[in-house]
Amino acid sequence: MSDRKYIMLLSALMLCLAAVSSVFGEELYREHYPDAKIDPARGVEGDVGFSDTIRYWRDEAALERSAGLAEKPAEQWKLNWKHMDLDRVELHPGHLAVDEGEALVKKLAAREAAFLTCLGEGAADLRGKAAAYPKFDAALGRIVTVEGRIEQCAKSVLNEDIRQGSPASNKISVYFKSQSAGKPIKVDLAEAKVMEAYRRGEELFYRKTGQLNFACASCHVPGSIMGHKLRGETPTTPFGDAAHYPTYRTPVGALESIHERFARCHGQMRTQGLKPGDPAYVDLEVFVSVLSNGYPVSVPSAR
Ligand code: HEC
Repeated sequence: MSDRKYIMLLSALMLCLAAVSSVFGEELYREHYPDAKIDPARGVEGDVGFSDTIRYWRDEAALERSAGLAEKPAEQWKLNWKHMDLDRVELHPGHLAVDEGEALVKKLAAREAAFLTCLGEGAADLRGKAAAYPKFDAALGRIVTVEGRIEQCAKSVLNEDIRQGSPASNKISVYFKSQSAGKPIKVDLAEAKVMEAYRRGEELFYRKTGQLNFACASCHVPGSIMGHKLRGETPTTPFGDAAHYPTYRTPVGALESIHERFARCHGQMRTQGLKPGDPAYVDLEVFVSVLSNGYPVSVPSAR
């Protein structure tokens, strides 16, 4: 073989090797937890055949029937903590947060009435509106969450920063969502952009990351850590979760948005958390909100 041919053959081999190793690199980077085969069209009822705990927390009657589980440390998680929603627990600081949120919205709307109509997309009445979030906003060209809407309206109408995850944002969000309390969540699956976000969120839910190489699914699907104690906490089904956020966290005495909860779970996974409002968290919120479709908005809640 001539030197020239030899060199050509050698470089071809090296190219092949490089291609193979980059494929492996990609595979490793994209390692996934096995797909739990969730059907978005079933909404919250997708928990049937998943964790099968929905029978304990589906509605008032179910919660009443299964109230005894709250006393059993090993089974308590099956209530998905839904026994702590709304008026099921007596007056808790979540209710005060609703009042504070309302006062804040009124104050900002007194300055600039358009703030309220921006939140209500043209109407000052917020009743029932939050149940349709997250949604695709054609004018903005992106998916908007309730907290994303608050931030956008504050910026465009008041030229003020009400950053997602800030105490002001959480208070307004709790008030906004409380205006839909009891209304079934209805994220619009017919909207292609929403389904695209759902698929991206789903991908993130199964993708392993961080020092522990955990996915969200490593703790939140049947056959994983779900239902088993982990440093004092027991991960539950992701169905129905989006309904009660932002929630009042009794242990720390503050409201927590769902993006802040994602960041806390990322911390448990030894994965760098993202900022509330990050597009990846918006996608995850779409994913878990679709898993709450049909379940009533349950704000204020305490956890
Ligand atoms: C190391 C285990 C673990 C991992 C991994 C994990 N979580 Fe969690 N998560 C928990 C525990 C424990 C709780 C508190 C108990 C509960 O409500 O599930 C929780 C709570 C939640 C809640 C709130 C449930 C409620 O009722 O208020 C949401 C939403 C959630 N996780 C989403 C996620 C997402 C999204 C990911 C991936 C980014 C993730 N989790 C990864 C352990 C984990």
